Amino acid sequence: DSHGINRRTLLLGGCAALAAPFVLTSPAFAAEGGAALPIPPILDADGAQPVTLTARAGSHSFVPGTKTPTLGYELDYLGPTLRVRRGRSARIDVVNRTGDEISAHWHGAFVPGKMDGGPQGAFAPGKTSSARFDVHQPAATLWYHSHVHGKTGTQVYHGLAGLLLVEDPAAPDGLPADYGVNDLPLVVQDRSFDSSGRLVYNTSGMTLMSGFLGNTICVNGAVRPVADVPRGLVRLRILNGSNARFYDFGFDDGRQFHQVASDSGLLPAPVARTHLALAPAERAEIVVDFSGDNAPVRLVSADFARSGMMGGGMMGGGSGAPATYDIATFVPGGAAGTGPTALPVSLPAPPFDLGAPVRTRDIRLDMHAGTMMGSMLRRLTGSNGGVMGINGRSYDMGRIDAELKLGETELWRVAAPMMTHPFHVHGCSFQVVSRGGQAVDPATEGHKDVVVVDARGVEILVRVDQKADRATPFMMHCHILEHEDAGMMAQFTVA
Ligand code: C2O
Ligand code: CU
Ligand code: CU
Repeated sequence: DSHGINRRTLLLGGCAALAAPFVLTSPAFAAEGGAALPIPPILDADGAQPVTLTARAGSHSFVPGTKTPTLGYELDYLGPTLRVRRGRSARIDVVNRTGDEISAHWHGAFVPGKMDGGPQGAFAPGKTSSARFDVHQPAATLWYHSHVHGKTGTQVYHGLAGLLLVEDPAAPDGLPADYGVNDLPLVVQDRSFDSSGRLVYNTSGMTLMSGFLGNTICVNGAVRPVADVPRGLVRLRILNGSNARFYDFGFDDGRQFHQVASDSGLLPAPVARTHLALAPAERAEIVVDFSGDNAPVRLVSADFARSGMMGGGMMGGGSGAPATYDIATFVPGGAAGTGPTALPVSLPAPPFDLGAPVRTRDIRLDMHAGTMMGSMLRRLTGSNGGVMGINGRSYDMGRIDAELKLGETELWRVAAPMMTHPFHVHGCSFQVVSRGGQAVDPATEGHKDVVVVDARGVEILVRVDQKADRATPFMMHCHILEHEDAGMMAQFTVA
C-alpha cells in the first residue's frame, strides 16, 4: 500500500462492459535497452542572468542506433533540470523555435497566474516568454511542461518537459544531494515507435478513453537504462512524466526503501515502503540503500494489465504473483561517491496548517466519450474537444468556472464516477483529507498537487495564496493529457 492507494483501488469504475476497453496495454519491450541512464544537465535558474531555454525540434536516440524526431527545451529531448532556491528569484526565458505555439508551465510552483504558463501563456514561434518569480515554497521536486490547450498531450509526448527542483538552503534535509551521483532524476515515460523509429501518437477512439499508452518505457529518454551508483544511500527523484500510464514501482528483490518526499515537498519522516504507486504527473523522492549490494538491482513496475489495475475487481484477475516489467537497473559500486550513511529520523517538512475550510466545492470529472453525447460532439467539432469535462462542462478558455478568494481554505469533494483520474490544481499544493470516506494520514501522503481520484471520491483541502486574474487564470484538470486536451479542465481566478 502506498499513498493509501493499493492497486486494487486503481480499478476503473463503471460496469465491466464499459471498462473492458480501458485495459492498460502491457509494454511490449520491442526496443532494446541497456544504455547508460542519461542525466539532464542541471542549471541554476535563480542567478542574476536569466537561463534561456530554447524550445526546438531535435533528433534523439531512445535506443542506440535509432534516430527519432523529437522536441525539447534546449536539449534534443526533454529539458535541463532547473534548480531554484527558496528566498531567491527565478529568471527563465523560454524561446520558441518550434513550428507551433508552445508554453512552459511550472507545474507545482507557487507563482501568480500571469507567470503560470498555462493555456493563456501560449506563445508563437519566434517569440520569447520570460518567467520571473520569487521562490518562497518548501524544497520539492517540481517539473515544467508545455500546456497549450488541445496540444499538451502531443507536445509533452514529443519531449517538451523537464524537472524543476526547489531547494531550501535554510532547511537542510540530510539526504543524498550529489546530483547525478547519489541524487538521480528519473523521468519515467511510455512511448511507442513505428518501424522507422518515429514516435507514434494518436488520440482516436478508445485511446482517448484510456489516454495514450506507449509500449516502451523510457527513463530520461532511454529504454531500460543502467545507472552506476555508489554503494550507499541513493536518492531517486521519480516523476511519472507519462501522458496516461500509472505505475507501481518497486525493486526486483522486493527490498524496502524509504519515501522521503511527495509532489510538493518532504514528508515529516521517511516512510518505509516496498512499492510506490505514481499516477501521471505525480512525483516521489525515495532513498534506496545500496550499501550491501554486489549485484545489479532492478527498478520494476507492476504490470497493471496482467496483475493489478483490473485485478481483484470486476475483471476477476489478479491471482498469483504480480507480474512486473523493468524500468531501470542500478549497478552499486559502479560509481564512487560519498554522502550520508544513515537516513535522518525526521525531515524539515512543511507543516499541515490549512485550517478549517470556509466553504465546500464539488468537482466531478466527466467523460462523455463513448456516449451518444460524445460522438455527437466529436462529429460536430471534428475533434476530441468537448467529449471530456468537469461538472458537465468542457474546458473553454473564455469561461471562468470558479472564483477563489486569496488565502481562503476550501474543502473540495472530487468525484470520478467513470474511471480513475489524476486530478491536478495549479498555483498551490493541497492536503488530501480523505479517500472514499476514509481519513488519509498526511504524514504518509504529504503535500500534493496531483491526487488520484476514483469512483470512491477524494476530499482535499485547498488554499491558493497566489493571485490569478481572468486573463491568466489557474487550471484544475485531469493530468491524463488526452483527457485534459479533450476538455477535462476548468479554470479559476484567485483574488
Ligand atoms: Cu502539469 Cu496543468 O499541469
Ligand atoms: Cu500544473
Ligand atoms: Cu482523466
